[in-house]
Amino acid sequence: KEVVLSGIRPTGFLHLGNYFGAMRNYVRMQDDYNCYFFVANWHSLTTHPDTKELKNSVHRVIAENIACGLDPEKVALYIQSDVPEIAELYLYLNMLAYKGELEKTVTFKDKVRQQPDNVNAGLLTYPVLQAADILIHRAVKVPVGKDQEQHLEMARNFAERFNYRYGEVLPLPYAFNYDSELVRIMSLDGTGKMSKSENQMATLYLADDEDTIRKKIMKAKTDQGPETPGSAKPDYIQNLFTLMGLVSTPDTVKKFEDDFNASSAGNCIIRYGDMKKQLAEDMARFIRPIREKAADIQHNKELLSRIILQGADKARASASATLQLVREAVGMN
Ligand code: TYM
Repeated sequence: KEVVLSGIRPTGFLHLGNYFGAMRNYVRMQDDYNCYFFVANWHSLTTHPDTKELKNSVHRVIAENIACGLDPEKVALYIQSDVPEIAELYLYLNMLAYKGELEKTVTFKDKVRQQPDNVNAGLLTYPVLQAADILIHRAVKVPVGKDQEQHLEMARNFAERFNYRYGEVLPLPYAFNYDSELVRIMSLDGTGKMSKSENQMATLYLADDEDTIRKKIMKAKTDQGPETPGSAKPDYIQNLFTLMGLVSTPDTVKKFEDDFNASSAGNCIIRYGDMKKQLAEDMARFIRPIREKAADIQHNKELLSRIILQGADKARASASATLQLVREAVGMN
């Protein structure tokens, strides 16, 4: 079986972008691949989170992954910091990563803007740690959203450099989505990608209750409707259709598609108010069981710690096998 790996930073409640960009694929992949999914708590330290919140958040992410359908018996579900082998591989890869390319990374430049007073070395080498996460299991498929594309390209570069210098040890990993395009869910206010920290009213969390979901969706950005029949959808409208495609029936989506396509400036047939009402209802129905199950699991500390230990065991077995090959290759055995 091919090896699959992906990770999520524990920086708060998970949202629909995480779900549709990444977690939905985890669940689909777990039967057909040898899967490793983990909580990237080392990566979170780059933004200096509160220690207690970070710990809670790690448990929350594990619980939400299981609530979404991941089966800890089928996959290795673990916490990054439980696998010290990753840190050693990170060290070797750091010798093959250059300052210039790291400074050019889009996510690094974003962070420099967001936290100018805390441009630490961990931020700069963030993609190297991510490469170590992937390469430690010699994973080839990495289910992620569109925003992680550049990090995957960098991971391939580091692996290629390693192989060129030390011999073929690390297979090249690729970003994966079942459809050819990687997913990018936009924020409901239409200002950018949906994210954990930005405008909370424009982010739909898997932990949101029905009322909150309805309020947020009814506030989502729309407009007067299309100028001419069949004109292209603005991205914030497309985003509502994308979300609808994920939680509503095909008939429902088709009805609003048809209404959109038949609409023009003088004759607006599509009613965005109705569309949002329908979307809110379907979204609430979709999120509810996830929210309830996640809450249950999060409070079951015994179950959680059993899952976390089991995940760490599986992950370390695979990681130490790779690390042995890596050490031999670099002359550290
Ligand atoms: P993170 O924690 O920001 O996001 C977790 C996953 O959710 C996806 N995602 C989105 N997809 C579509 N639309 C959105 N608006 C959206 N927002 C988030 C992300 O693409 C990601 O797949 N650097 C990673 C964590 C990481 C990792 C790894 C991932 C660390 N090591 C190794 C894969 C492999 C991150 O910050 O994801």
